[in-house]
Amino acid sequence: MKISVKSGAAEKEFTDVIVISLFENVKKIPSELNSLDKASGGTISNLLQNKDFTGKLNETVMIPTYKKSIPKRILLVGLGKATELSSDKVRQAAGTAARVIQGKKFKNPSMLLYNKTEYKGISIEEITSSVVEGVLLSLYNFTMYKTLKKEDKATINNFTLIVQKKDVLAKVKSVAKNTQTVAEAVCFTRDLVNMSGSDATPTFLANKAKEIAKKTGVKCRTLSHPDMKKLGMGGILNVSRGSSQPPKFIILEYNTRKKNNDTIVLIGKGVTFDSGGISLKPGMDMDLMKADMAGAAAVLGAFKAVSGLKPSTHIVGLIPCTENMPDGSALKPGDIIKFMSGKTVEVLNTDAEGRLILADAISYAKRYKPDAVIDIATLTGACVAALGTFATGMLGNNDELKERVNQAGKKCHERVWELPLWKEYYDLIKSNIADIKNTGGKYAGTITAACFLGEFVEDFPWVHLDIAGTFLVEKDTPYIRKGASGVGVRLLTQLILDWKKMRKKTGQK
Ligand code: BES
Ligand code: MN
Ligand code: ZN
Repeated sequence: MKISVKSGAAEKEFTDVIVISLFENVKKIPSELNSLDKASGGTISNLLQNKDFTGKLNETVMIPTYKKSIPKRILLVGLGKATELSSDKVRQAAGTAARVIQGKKFKNPSMLLYNKTEYKGISIEEITSSVVEGVLLSLYNFTMYKTLKKEDKATINNFTLIVQKKDVLAKVKSVAKNTQTVAEAVCFTRDLVNMSGSDATPTFLANKAKEIAKKTGVKCRTLSHPDMKKLGMGGILNVSRGSSQPPKFIILEYNTRKKNNDTIVLIGKGVTFDSGGISLKPGMDMDLMKADMAGAAAVLGAFKAVSGLKPSTHIVGLIPCTENMPDGSALKPGDIIKFMSGKTVEVLNTDAEGRLILADAISYAKRYKPDAVIDIATLTGACVAALGTFATGMLGNNDELKERVNQAGKKCHERVWELPLWKEYYDLIKSNIADIKNTGGKYAGTITAACFLGEFVEDFPWVHLDIAGTFLVEKDTPYIRKGASGVGVRLLTQLILDWKKMRKKTGQK
């Protein structure tokens, strides 16, 4: 789908439909709409006067004008109260409008952006990116495994944004283009997460990474079983023991390390199917565990976005990929495994596998002398119990990095919420017979999982993101349909785009 930007007047758009957003209970229509209102016989003002449209968030009304000299239809969409505007409400309203248009099968809609270059602290750039995200994210539909009729495949060809003043045209155009890059990366990630576990295998993900690299100039290597053995990657080697799929450790690198840039390492959990292993999961909802590579997919998506946007930071992606399956040679509860760092771990539950493979990646990150390490993983059911589905769990060892992630999350509305990583929690994963154990008991499962990772973190700033509650949406929302959310792509990309050199280089416990 194409996003175009042009300057002009609403009434001169001779399209199937023009989208007009309005606040709740406006007394007077914005001046940009006067001519359109007049030319359409006062339909907009009549509707408002008669309260057939009140402007509540995501309310829509389609008005046919039946005229050739102006847009054929006007689609009003509500933004909610003017005093409560946020960029996410803009994103929602744009998503809602785009879905109505898709439902009606119109091919070339337009949307009016108002004259104001700032409203309630929201700049025209932010409005533009919210609209483009809302449109592109809301139209995503996972149809890979569906037999579609030709008419089901029809979608919007071109979505035109109309700005009022020529002087903002260049700015809006460039923001729209960059946002499209990010939104397409989110949809790429959603495809990977929605795919079946038998299709999206470790080898498949490794090939996807190579494909991204080839298209973008990012460097990519993958480690196979013998390489991992040489390195002593005790986590991924042991977790993959019960699977007939070979494990892969993907390494991506964007840019190179320079004096005046920072190195950020992104780590994504790539368990392409988590059956629990010998500590087998119950059957109910086990199918969802095909998505236990949502962290890996988010890192791949972030690389896709970043390589298109070209920030100056040096970014490394480390993605351990494996299945977690039970068979005769599978990892057993009670096994003791040894890691690259020399640490020994008592495996009490083979279903706590994510932390084992992430530990390898965190140890591997050290060789890049990172200024920040961020891992993202569908790590614990406990995170869903604690935070539900609206917040990603965040834990880490460095206040500055945590605050940056928090700010990035607020900006793109992929919000994070911090949980504590106090020393007392670390005591819960001490083992009687090894250095540590891979479960921390009944309580604080998200925190003890993060403590486990923390045991492998060295003197670098680190944040762990638990997306067990946010990788999926259970029912349609205004801009994300049921299924994989693509969480993490926008968050990591935003963090990288806003990156400034870290002040404090070391981690703090
Ligand atoms: N992949 C799961 C966590 C998960 C659960 C993600 C639900 C998304 C939705 C992880 O590997 C796991 O099984 N964790 C266990 C850990 C426990 C055995 C200590 C859990 O959360 O139950
Ligand atoms: Mn598990
Ligand atoms: Zn898992």
